[in-house]
Order: sequence, then structure tokens, then C-alpha cells
Amino acid sequence: MSSESRSRVTRAIYPGSFDPPTNGHLDVIERAAGALGELIVAIVVNPQKRDPMFTLREREKMLKECIAHLPNVRVEHFRGLLADYVKAQDADVIVKGLRVVSDFEIEMSTALMNRSLSNVDTLFLMSDAKYSFVSSSLVKEVFFLGGDVSMFVPHPVLDVMTTKRTALKRL
Ligand code: PNS
Repeated sequence: MSSESRSRVTRAIYPGSFDPPTNGHLDVIERAAGALGELIVAIVVNPQKRDPMFTLREREKMLKECIAHLPNVRVEHFRGLLADYVKAQDADVIVKGLRVVSDFEIEMSTALMNRSLSNVDTLFLMSDAKYSFVSSSLVKEVFFLGGDVSMFVPHPVLDVMTTKRTALKRL
């Protein structure tokens, strides 16, 4: 390895809906931030799957509070193709977390498509086993049906969720 490649700071993008961020997301962020030079947590503004429950502003607020202790991490958002955003940011790598085998099936084709479009590889981190069943959609369902999700989301996220639930109850 040349001294030039050794001194290069790797810029990574961790994309997602983060609707809301979970402890599983934060675990991936912390581990990626420890291994890579610079990490951009990139919130997708127009997710393909469904309308988000939390506004972009709420998701930004939650994530910024969660990553406040990580100096090489910042929160951004993007519209459209991830591959275009990755190129625009001059990123070296995309980071994704893998919880279970079914995640891999989806993520493999996505990673190959993103590499074809941007020439940027996807680096996968295995989720910690204790978060393998934790997803944003399950957390939302449990929480809004009155369940306790305090062990699955960071404190700033629980605060925003509680405010949201109170506001929704008033409607
Ligand atoms: O947290 P999620 O919902 O699993 O994140 C999915 C995300 C945002 C990574 C994915 O939907 C995405 O990359 N969206 C941007 C649109 C895009 O590039 N689609 C083509 C993927 S090959």
C-alpha cells in the first residue's frame, strides 16, 4: 500500500429512511464511524416503500442528537437515486447493516445496481445479534399500540416519538 493510499480519508454514506432511527442503526453508525474516516448518515427524502411517519425535520433532529458524540459523522438528506448522491458527495463507499439472511437477498442486488450506476461498492456490517429483530416498522407498530420500545431506540428518538404520539392522540 502506498503512503498516498494510507493517508486517504474514506468518505462513507450510510443511507436509509430512519423512520425512526433505532439502536440497530446507531450501532452500525458507531461501528462504521470507528472504522472509516468520515461518515454521512443520509436520510432519503422520498422513500420508495411508503410515506414516512416522521417528517424529514424530525428524522434529522433525532439522528443529529444520536450522533452528537461522533465527531466524524454528519447527517444529510437526499432525493432521487442514491448512486447520484454518492457520486455528488465523492463518496468512496456505501455502508449498510445486515440483520438476517432475507436482508442479504435484497441488499445484494441493490449493491450491485448501485455499483453499476456509481462504481461505488457497498460495505456490509453485520448487525449486533441483539438488534437482529429490531426494525423501524416494528418499533413504530409496537410503540403506537402502547408497547414499551425504550430498549430498542436511543433516548432522543423516544422523546420525539412520545411527542408525536401525544400530538396524534389530540387529533
Ligand atoms: O432504511 P431503508 O428504507 O431500508 O433505506 C432504503 C434506501 C434509502 C437505502 C433505498 O430506498 C435507497 O437507496 N433509495 C434511494 C433511491 C434509489 O437509489 N433506488 C435504487 C436503488 S438500487
